[in-house]
Amino acid sequence: MNVHDKTGGTPGVSSVAKLMLEGKACDMPVRSGTIGPDVIDVAKLYKDTGCFTYDPGFTSTANCVSRITYIDGDAGVLLYRGYPIDQLAQDASFLETCYLLMHGELPTAEQYVKFKKTITNHTMVHEQMTKFFTGFRRDAHPMAVMVGVVGALSAFYHDSTDINDAHQRQIASHRMIAKMPTIAAMAYKYSIGQPFIYPRNDLDFASNFLQMCFAVPCEPYEINPVMSRALDRIFILHADHEQNASTSTVRLAGSSGANPFACVAAGIACLWGPAHGGANEAALQMLEEIGTVDRIPEYIAKAKDKNSGFRLMGFGHRVYKNYDPRAKVMQATCHEVLDALGKKNEPLLAVAMELERIALHDPYFIEKKLYPNIDFYSGITLKAMGFPTSMFTVLFAIARTVGWISQWREMIEDPEQRIGRPRQLYLGEPKRDFVKFDKRT
Ligand code: CMC
Repeated sequence: MNVHDKTGGTPGVSSVAKLMLEGKACDMPVRSGTIGPDVIDVAKLYKDTGCFTYDPGFTSTANCVSRITYIDGDAGVLLYRGYPIDQLAQDASFLETCYLLMHGELPTAEQYVKFKKTITNHTMVHEQMTKFFTGFRRDAHPMAVMVGVVGALSAFYHDSTDINDAHQRQIASHRMIAKMPTIAAMAYKYSIGQPFIYPRNDLDFASNFLQMCFAVPCEPYEINPVMSRALDRIFILHADHEQNASTSTVRLAGSSGANPFACVAAGIACLWGPAHGGANEAALQMLEEIGTVDRIPEYIAKAKDKNSGFRLMGFGHRVYKNYDPRAKVMQATCHEVLDALGKKNEPLLAVAMELERIALHDPYFIEKKLYPNIDFYSGITLKAMGFPTSMFTVLFAIARTVGWISQWREMIEDPEQRIGRPRQLYLGEPKRDFVKFDKRT
């Protein structure tokens, strides 16, 4: 295949790729983004050649045009609407980041105040929703509860489910960002048998979540500012990540015109998996299992042994073939939190740091470009803050909600959007005639 012929005039099209297949030629436009690799537009491939492309796991496939998040995995760069993640984590608040992701620009002071007020006003859930929780077993995983209860939002807020109405899309978006922490905290409170704590409008987003999780009605709850700043930063780090599995799930579910709350519930279901959002839980469990620094070589050897089925959780990434830029901020946040809580000597931190040091010098990990990802240090941090492991992925879901809904809105507003319908390479039986029971051997 050749890429040639600069086409000039056509917007976004920089050249044309020519594919020759058994004498049939197909010209495919090559489209350039602002930054990042070009894409070969194969939309007409089937019509011109009768062939599909085959790309399990979509490693070479761009599914959409997006203006929200950019990742350069080789350089370890992550930008939200062009702004580097470390700058946002340093200077922005989570709600400022939400506004940025949703609207494309940082808010003015006035826009920020208005946005904050809107989100705050949507934090309560319909009182009848409390009944949902009691239908779950107390020992249910909170992600299972999240899938169910967030899906159930679609049965409560009928005035924001017309996806063709921009105003309703906006209300649904605000509702999801605002209610997700409330639902998550309720899932946690239910699991430990404590009463639900209502949201407080005088608190910022992260502080409010902390109080809904850790306050009890019988005594005042004091918010530790280091904890709330750290949590806010963790939310920023997880807010969006381009076309990852859960975001693609939300887009695919939404492409049929489905209810937005149900689409986000689908995203939560996908996020739950250990190869995606569930890795923070798995990473902490692994560090606990390793337990002491002297056992690290055994686990490194296991990770390198293909037959063991074991992987170093919190290591490696489909896109980052360099240090995950979120992991750098996460590592610093982890140290800050442990310092503030007087847990500097937390044994798991020593295990994590030594594991990271060894892995970064080991030829196996160097050759395969396996670096710590965001989940490597997030588990230790969240554990120190008092969250049980089962809540880790739930916190990820709270943060990623804004990414999901921003990407969902972008998809709905995209004139090129069509229902997502991948094709396949069929290796099953060709057509054959039905055989009745008495004739089957
Ligand atoms: N430990 C040991 N070996 C690994 C690891 C690991 N964590 N990750 C990848 N490899 C090896 C893998 O065995 C393969 O080796 P080979 O080429 O010899 O077959 C090679 O590296 C490439 O792996 P892959 O599975 O083809 O890569 P992928 O892009 O499909 O998978 C991943 C990416 C994140 C699923 C994988 O690295 C992994 O399972 N990591 C552990 C789970 C984890 O930490 N996930 C969190 C991802 S970040 C959070 C998020 O954004 O959702």
